[in-house]
Amino acid sequence: MIKKRRSSAWYGKHDKDGFIHRSWMKNQGFPDHAFDGRPVIGICNTWSELTPCNSGLRDLAEGVKRGVWEAGGFPVEFPVMSLGETQMKPTAMLFRNLLAMDVEESIRAYGIDGVVLLGGCDKTTPGQLMGAASVDLPTIVVSSGPMLNGKWKGKDIGSGTDVWKFSEAVRAGEMTLQDFMNAESGMSRSKGVCMTMGTASTMASVVEAMGMSLPTNAALPAVDSRRMALAHLTGKRIVEMVDEDIKPSDIMTREAFENAILANAAVGGSTNAVVHLLAMAGRVGVDLALDDFELGSEIPLLVNCMPSGKYLMEDFCYAGGMPVVLSKLAKHGHLRSTKTVLGGDIHAYADGAECYNDDVIQSFDSPVKPAAGLRVLRGNLAPRGAIIKPSAASDHLLEHEGEAYVFDSIEDMKANIDRDDLPVTADSILVLKGCGPKGYPGMPEVGNMPIPRRLITQGIKDMIRISDARMSGTAFGTVILHVSPEAQAGGPLALVKTGDRIRVSTSTGALELLISDTEMDARRASWQPDEPHYTRGYAKMYVDHVLQADKGADLDFLVGKDTRLVTRESH
Ligand code: FES
Repeated sequence: MIKKRRSSAWYGKHDKDGFIHRSWMKNQGFPDHAFDGRPVIGICNTWSELTPCNSGLRDLAEGVKRGVWEAGGFPVEFPVMSLGETQMKPTAMLFRNLLAMDVEESIRAYGIDGVVLLGGCDKTTPGQLMGAASVDLPTIVVSSGPMLNGKWKGKDIGSGTDVWKFSEAVRAGEMTLQDFMNAESGMSRSKGVCMTMGTASTMASVVEAMGMSLPTNAALPAVDSRRMALAHLTGKRIVEMVDEDIKPSDIMTREAFENAILANAAVGGSTNAVVHLLAMAGRVGVDLALDDFELGSEIPLLVNCMPSGKYLMEDFCYAGGMPVVLSKLAKHGHLRSTKTVLGGDIHAYADGAECYNDDVIQSFDSPVKPAAGLRVLRGNLAPRGAIIKPSAASDHLLEHEGEAYVFDSIEDMKANIDRDDLPVTADSILVLKGCGPKGYPGMPEVGNMPIPRRLITQGIKDMIRISDARMSGTAFGTVILHVSPEAQAGGPLALVKTGDRIRVSTSTGALELLISDTEMDARRASWQPDEPHYTRGYAKMYVDHVLQADKGADLDFLVGKDTRLVTRESH
């Protein structure tokens, strides 16, 4: 007895509509039995040569297909918009929600019963999961996997993290431009995502901790043959998941998001996980808030990977990967029970995990850093919150009061940061406006603005920087991000002037602009938003509808889901 499936509304009909759906698919050489009621598995692929981090996904799609056929399913691969973090202007984040819309509408419109999401580069994982969660068919993630460790002059170098370091070294006169250029080829030696614990590996790690991928998915290098085997196993498993009717809403529960936050702290994950997890939670109706990220604030940094530590993802994989991290969290009572794509509990991912390198994955008793989670800051400068990653910051700046130097835009910052007469000291606080979701638009990774050249040549490596932007997951420094509301939305950040004093206290979670309420009100009365950069198309829709960072920067009309079957036919 064949179970009636969602796909039967396309391929199981013995009428004109069924003829049309089957016949045109058969032009690819699929036999009759592909349409016999077996589960149709969509393979949602973000492969693109313009997204180099995802350039291995064509091969992995073939692995998934092998597994789907083996388990008695019918695999069909389809493309969705791909977001190349290092290639898109003004920022790939502007298009995360467009990818999510593409994924959601593709899944809804086609006759599929379950989905394998092939993503990797930063925005592709959250964008795909947001879209899939809004349709809520059985879903599993297979990630690109990290590149092999970067190598240059006999040393390991890490994606992003060493770009920022080398770039500052050139500006300080400590590295030649020729050496800088030569390092390019050694940094990216294979297919795959950034091999630091940047946003891509962070998202793959938290997705594994949520139980939305098979175990070991996060750290296996892109070119390791075991990743192809994992893709094959995922193909097999998604067919079973369709029969067991295990959907994202069964897995992406409140407890799963808490596990993601706890795991993000333990791996020293990217600040970008905040906006992505908030947006994903909004799709499945989990009431996650910025303050929930404080849950990770007492978790020690276990994974010694750049940017917070010294190793790279390849080392993390060989040390045992996420199953080891989950086992350490479980041992100390920091892993919530939740269902996974395997149908069991997340604790099963940790069972039997062995650590093969105690320096790469350290212990609760002797961690890389004692408290690694993100901290939420609030105050009259960020009434709806801002975040800081203390593990990537300088300890002496975590409690600080200083004078603001304000850049009104990214162009202002770029034009003036290296001025010899820039009136700043190591105690100054750099403020950048106009880089939030509406302002830039798209909330780019520019929050870790460079240290002014006149300071860097004096040996100053860090200072407090505040903005409504994000920063790369591979970046480091005492950087306060995601100030909400943003300047362009009329947040108090818009009202800061050079010379104002600002107080930051990471221990008490305070971010205060030290001016009187009367002065604040007077400045607000004369404030005007900037003219919008986009007046048509998707970018205009984005600016008109994007939520602030504390709500995940999703579009207001995309929050939630719609699981109804579309019944109207096209002909
Ligand atoms: Fe694609 Fe880092 S730029 S993963």
